[in-house]
Amino acid sequence: MRREAKLAAKRVLITGGGSGIGRALAREAARRGMEVAVCGRRRAALEETARQLPASARPIAIAADITSADDRARLVALLSEAWGRLDVLVNNAGVVEGGVIEHTDDAALEATFRTNVIAPIALTRDCAPLLRAAAPARVVNVGSVFGDIAYPGFAAYSASKFALRGFSSALRREWAPQGIGVTYVAPRATLTDAAAAFDGLIAATGMRLDAPDEVAAHVWQAVERGRDTAYPAGPERLFVLIQRLAPKLIDRALARSIPRTAS
Ligand SMILES: NC(=O)c1ccc[n+]([C@@H]2O[C@H](COP(=O)([O-])OP(=O)(O)OC[C@H]3O[C@@H](n4cnc5c(N)ncnc54)[C@H](OP(=O)(O)O)[C@@H]3O)[C@@H](O)[C@H]2O)c1
Repeated sequence: MRREAKLAAKRVLITGGGSGIGRALAREAARRGMEVAVCGRRRAALEETARQLPASARPIAIAADITSADDRARLVALLSEAWGRLDVLVNNAGVVEGGVIEHTDDAALEATFRTNVIAPIALTRDCAPLLRAAAPARVVNVGSVFGDIAYPGFAAYSASKFALRGFSSALRREWAPQGIGVTYVAPRATLTDAAAAFDGLIAATGMRLDAPDEVAAHVWQAVERGRDTAYPAGPERLFVLIQRLAPKLIDRALARSIPRTAS
């Protein structure tokens, strides 16, 4: 079987599917023959994603806040009724809060950890019966290169993606016997609304931003191949390796990026 055909007719839920990487993941999933449900808080954004998908994707747009237990229960109930199983859960929804720690208030900390860590863990748990019904199934967690390379000026965000990576590793081991795989993906800077948080960094480093469609193609390729992780090609992959082997070298490289703290 051609690798691309492996995903045909699979049913996928993509959180944060109303914009950016999530919308690109939805389009690419549809291109590969999958049936697609998207969720997020803004109904109009989800409906626009659904409008961009072919009829063969039988798009389902569900307005839901993944940090709300009631919304997650409604989401799972709707998918149970529509599909009765879930082949792939993509935990993509996230918030990117930049800023030195002295300027990161409790509301920003709460939003970061509730959205990027607690909600995907809780949603994965809530989807367990649907994933089990589809096994072999897969959970895809969208992390970040900042989940390996802790970035000054992005301490809370980096910490949240480290947590998501840790969750992915533990869950992979826990659910392997049930035939549910876990892919942790770590995009680098990508041209989306969230990239506004990186404006200063992009301006200072002249960093190249990936297109969401490139990221989406890379993610689905990793899923087709049953990969545990997907890191971007290019220098970031090397930096991740150096971070693991010789973290002091990364300390030195990032010393120039340290933002000024509040006095
Ligand atoms: N852009 C980058 O440079 C970059 C790099 C590495 C990793 N990432 C990661 O990629 C993922 C997608 O981000 P993006 O860059 O595509 O930015 P984005 O366009 O801002 O997408 C984030 C999505 O998450 C949804 N969302 C946020 N809070 C939610 C909640 N409580 N419930 C349901 N949906 C929620 C948003 O929809 P609503 O507002 O409608 O809810 C939005 O569609 C994030 O996990 C981000 O950390 C991004």
